[in-house]
Amino acid sequence: MKIFAYGIRNDEKPALEDWKSAHPEVEVDYTQELLTPETAALAKGSDSVVVYQQLDYTPETLKALAEAGVTNMSLRNVGTDNIDFETAKALDFNISNVPVYSPNAIAEHAAIQVAALLSQAKVMENKVQKRDLRWEPTIRREVRDQVVGVVGTGHIGRVFLEIMQGFGAKVVAYDVYRNPELEAEGVYVDTLDELLEQSDIVSLHVPHIPGVNDQMINAETIAKMKDDAVLVNVSRGLLVDTDAVVAALDSKKLFGFVMDTYEGEVGVFNKDWSENGLEDKRLDDLISRENVYVTPHTAFYTTHAVREMVHQSFDAAVAFAKGETPANAVKY
Ligand code: NAD
Ligand code: COI
Repeated sequence: MKIFAYGIRNDEKPALEDWKSAHPEVEVDYTQELLTPETAALAKGSDSVVVYQQLDYTPETLKALAEAGVTNMSLRNVGTDNIDFETAKALDFNISNVPVYSPNAIAEHAAIQVAALLSQAKVMENKVQKRDLRWEPTIRREVRDQVVGVVGTGHIGRVFLEIMQGFGAKVVAYDVYRNPELEAEGVYVDTLDELLEQSDIVSLHVPHIPGVNDQMINAETIAKMKDDAVLVNVSRGLLVDTDAVVAALDSKKLFGFVMDTYEGEVGVFNKDWSENGLEDKRLDDLISRENVYVTPHTAFYTTHAVREMVHQSFDAAVAFAKGETPANAVKY
């Protein structure tokens, strides 16, 4: 049995070597290159490929992979929103993801950024670097004084909610599916609008479902938010109308923005722009703002998460190769 993996980074190699040692019967080959129509042929002769979400899985890419003889594809991440499912179905692809590799990684990241934003950490750091050691006007907002609105109480949203409760914040939540334990705690409101109206912090933890919740945060929904609210998007860029957020930051409707995922991130994040500068001027502007915390889709990026992503995706790839259906097969 042979598995071919795309986009293997140096930080994944120790986890991959451990997995290989535990599965000497499986031949594993890999490349640092991402899966594209051009690189698909590298997988020829393999039973399954292992990939992760950075580029879109376009009809061309899926067709090229099928032409190379491979229709078993195991993602090393959660999100499946960038897969062309119509083509995948037509070509009879088996797809798996890793739905739970470390919700804490993403939830912790969001919480840390929220705390930094409320503390005006960037403002104070910039002042200190200039040797401006005055207190005023850089006063902090305590997390416990905030009402935190959690949109989506699945794996990640739930951990984020608990961290916020740990700080002493009041939490309200909205989800199309209610978690019974959280229901018993009485955290749910009935509509997104109610959550927006009540919350000082609004944090998104829902998947992006094309055609269903594109730009669920837009000028109209931002207008429903409290003045001086903070928006957190560690989920997917396409959930947010970035221009509307920029306008709300300019008008000071929003106190700040935490952005780990960006609608224009494909081909931009995980690249070094330090020499030539960013072509995306809107992103450049967001990064330079003291009340905006931009990270290049690294909320997931911890040692714990990377290990789980590698091990669980390779396990699934083996199951597909054996003709079995792994527990984390994507139903589509
Ligand atoms: P999950 O499936 O466990 O939870 C998602 C929750 O959202 C579910 O409870 C679902 O009922 C709810 N939901 C779906 N659509 C909704 C809607 N329109 N309104 C309200 N609720 C809705 O998923 P998860 O593991 O918590 O991950 C959430 C998202 O986080 C992923 O889909 C992915 O987009 C994102 N993510 C980001 C990173 C990162 O590094 N930034 C890493 C992993 C996942
Ligand atoms: C996911 O797992 O869905 C993420 O957002 C992380 C990533 C490596 C694409």
